[in-house]
Amino acid sequence: MKKLIVFMVGLVAVMTLAACGRGQVHIGIVLPTNEEPRWVQDEQRFRDLLDETSYNVEILFSEGSSATERSNVESLIAQGIDVLIITAHDGGAAAAAVELAKAEGITVIAYDRLITDTDAVDYYVTFDSVAVGEAQAQYLVDQAEGTGNPLYLYAGAASDNNAFLFFEGAWNILQPKIADGTFYVVNSSQAVALQDQAELTRDQMANIIGQITTDWNFNTAMNLADAHLTNASAADKGDVFILAPNDGTARAIANTFEDDTEITSYLITGQDAEIASIQYIIDGRQSMTVLKDVRVLVQEAFNMAINVLEGNTIETTGSYHNGEIDVPSVQAEVLVVDQDNVIEAIIESGYWDEDEFELE
Ligand code: BGC
Repeated sequence: MKKLIVFMVGLVAVMTLAACGRGQVHIGIVLPTNEEPRWVQDEQRFRDLLDETSYNVEILFSEGSSATERSNVESLIAQGIDVLIITAHDGGAAAAAVELAKAEGITVIAYDRLITDTDAVDYYVTFDSVAVGEAQAQYLVDQAEGTGNPLYLYAGAASDNNAFLFFEGAWNILQPKIADGTFYVVNSSQAVALQDQAELTRDQMANIIGQITTDWNFNTAMNLADAHLTNASAADKGDVFILAPNDGTARAIANTFEDDTEITSYLITGQDAEIASIQYIIDGRQSMTVLKDVRVLVQEAFNMAINVLEGNTIETTGSYHNGEIDVPSVQAEVLVVDQDNVIEAIIESGYWDEDEFELE
């Protein structure tokens, strides 16, 4: 026993020294995965801001795992952070991790994805996700002529609250156009059963999302699209419309539809303005994306963190209910990008460098 105590005291001393050597970390940032360009971009854009501050910031990725996410949070707590900026891998599962932080007096900022069913979230910095879904759906509606157009629906991961917000936005715009016969849904019996209902409950949305979820995973998206096309009749093909929730899944789904000889043309949505999808838009393989300017979001989150550290008042503009509390929020706007404005919105604006693309 004595030996153990001596060992533990020694261990604590070593750990403290290690912490002192690197200095206290003030702001901890936890991002869900570096397997998706979206979050690698957020990391880079956060790093671009670090020169502006003398505060110590540490950025960790959770490898698409709630367990890793929790150990990331624990490690940041041990390094003395005062503010945690976190994009949850799974919005429900992350509650336990942020409750640990909250119990240490750390200010918790949910970044892009809301953490649900807990009072341990202080602020939410996000894009207008309902507007993202509305913009995607509006794009499809604007290009559809006549009636009886086949519509394929896809959604994000059910563990991500944003998947519900995107779908809610899309449903707001698509539902009247399904009800009036402009579109018919090919690949979700749940959506068909609910097509006369303008507003869906969370459970009803979960039922639809359960049938059309990509899990934010490219392979899942591809396999799902493949299965839908295998089951579809010739009449469900031809000129089709596809609601894809983000760029990564849009490319996977587009590739699958391109390979089907009975598909004459397809319109497909996306979001994130990922470099690969901008190239797809230039090449006419993806119809649109929604630019969510990550520079704006990192700046908002960063300013908020600094204000917390300096004891300033935090300005918020709205709130989101997370199932337990109303979380005060700051919200950034989004922009539709397609072939018509891609050069101006993406390259001339300096969002991505021209060298990244092959322009015709
Ligand atoms: C984000 C999207 C992203 C998706 C998959 C969502 O929560 O808002 O920008 O494409 O997760 O990572």
